[in-house]
Order: sequence, then structure tokens, then C-alpha cells
Amino acid sequence: MTILLRFILKDLKRNTLSKIRNFDKICVMTKELWSEEYARQGIPSSFRKEATKVVMQTISLLAERGIKSGMALDLGCGKGRNAFFLAANGFDVIALDFVSENVAWINATAKEVKIPIHAHCQSVVDPWPVRPDQVDFAIDIFCYKHIVDKNGQAKYRQNLISALKKGGYYLISLAADDDGFYGPLLSCSPDIKFKAILDPYSHIGSFLYSLDEIIAEFSGDFIVVKMENARSVSPMHGKEYPRSVLNVLFQKA
Ligand SMILES: C[S@@+](CC[C@H](N)C(=O)[O-])C[C@H]1O[C@@H](n2cnc3c(N)ncnc32)[C@H](O)[C@@H]1O
Repeated sequence: MTILLRFILKDLKRNTLSKIRNFDKICVMTKELWSEEYARQGIPSSFRKEATKVVMQTISLLAERGIKSGMALDLGCGKGRNAFFLAANGFDVIALDFVSENVAWINATAKEVKIPIHAHCQSVVDPWPVRPDQVDFAIDIFCYKHIVDKNGQAKYRQNLISALKKGGYYLISLAADDDGFYGPLLSCSPDIKFKAILDPYSHIGSFLYSLDEIIAEFSGDFIVVKMENARSVSPMHGKEYPRSVLNVLFQKA
């Protein structure tokens, strides 16, 4: 091996290691980064007021199946656009997010307009404030992908399994690995085994998935009711990108 090649390899290793170390540090600060993101309003969920399309579609599908009320969970609820939609459609909602400003705003607004939403400021990785087998419907719109720690994701899945009733539903929506904004960031992934990426604007981490991978991650405990790879164009940090989003509706077996 030439000296130059040896130098390049050493440098590559050093850079990769330092990126991974930064990645860990950045992930610890995630709560603050989210607070900053809501102030900056770089991604659609930071400023959109209307409920997510797939949540609206799923509420119609559940209604067709006779589920028009019950207990719902909004995991990583953000500013609560989907929590408010679930409450307006007959559900008692428990919403979880670790950004305290959002949680306080949701609770104050829900109290003012007298609608059944209780938001809790906590990580979705910690135990959830619900009894076992209590929840009819849980949604996760772009939160699970941001838990960039496989142990944390496993704890979340245990919480989910415990919380849902047998036959209860779980909707997850997240970016695909060929997403027009997140996908190209894989070329400088700090952990390619898990398809980890770092948003260069917000410095918030994500894991990207294919449809098969996200289904495999929840298999065993759930059956797939509906799945899709939804394509659209939407703004990210002030520029339009072709988006590729995975939506999967699971039912607890
Ligand atoms: C992309 S935003 C989506 C917000 C909301 N679901 C929506 O669609 O409007 C992701 C949300 O997940 C929250 N979040 C990320 N990781 C979390 C964690 N470990 N525990 C609680 N909330 C988390 C963030 O604070 C943020 O509000």
C-alpha cells in the first residue's frame, strides 16, 4: 500500500470516528434542537396547522371498521395538529412530546376549547402514562425515526405493545431511504449500518428505512393492515424537495 493511500485511509477513519462522536453528542441534545427547530420552522410539521393526510385517511378507514371513539395516543405530537384532529373525531387523546413549550400550549388550548387532550412532556422512550391494554389507536408521525438509538426504539416498541388493546391500531409515518431531502445525506452517514443521517440545517438525527425494514422492525407483534410509499413535493428548510414517505397501519395481533 502506498504512503498516500495509507494516509487517506487513516484520515477517513479519523473523520468518520469524529462524525460518530459528534452524532452521539448531538443526539443527547435533541430536545433543545427540536425547540430551536420549532422556532426556525424549517420542516413542514413545525408550521403546518392541518392534520397529516394519512391520519385523516386512517380515521376514515377506522370509522368504516366501526371504530369512531376510544383512547388515542399521539407519539411525538409536536404542536398537536393531529392530536386536535383525533379529538375532533371522537377520541380521548393522550399526546407525548419532549418540547415543553408545545406541550404547555396544547394543554392550555385544549382546556380553553374544552376538548379531551392531555399532553405530557416526556420522552417516548420512557414509560407512557397509560394503563396496559388501554389504547385503541396510536399514531407516530415522524417521531420514531428521530429516536436514533436502537435500545431507545426497542423500549418505545415495548411501551407500544403494552399500551395497545389486542386488535388496537398503530399508524407510523416516516421518511423512506430514497426521500429527496434525507436520502442523499446517506452519502455522509455517521452510521450507515442503521442508515443514520444528520439534518444539516437542524442537526437533528434520523434513521431512514425501506418499507420492508420498517415492517420487519414491528413484525411478530403486529399484522399489516395497509401500507404505502407516498410521493409528494414539499418544502424543507425553504426549498422544495421530492419526498418519499412510508405510511404503515399495523394492528396488534
Ligand atoms: C417531525 S416532528 C412531528 C411532529 C408531529 N407528529 C406532527 O406531525 O406535526 C417530530 C416530533 O417528535 C418529537 N420527538 C422526537 N423525539 C422524541 C422523543 N424521544 N420523545 C418525545 N418526543 C420526541 C419532537 O419534539 C417533535 O415535536
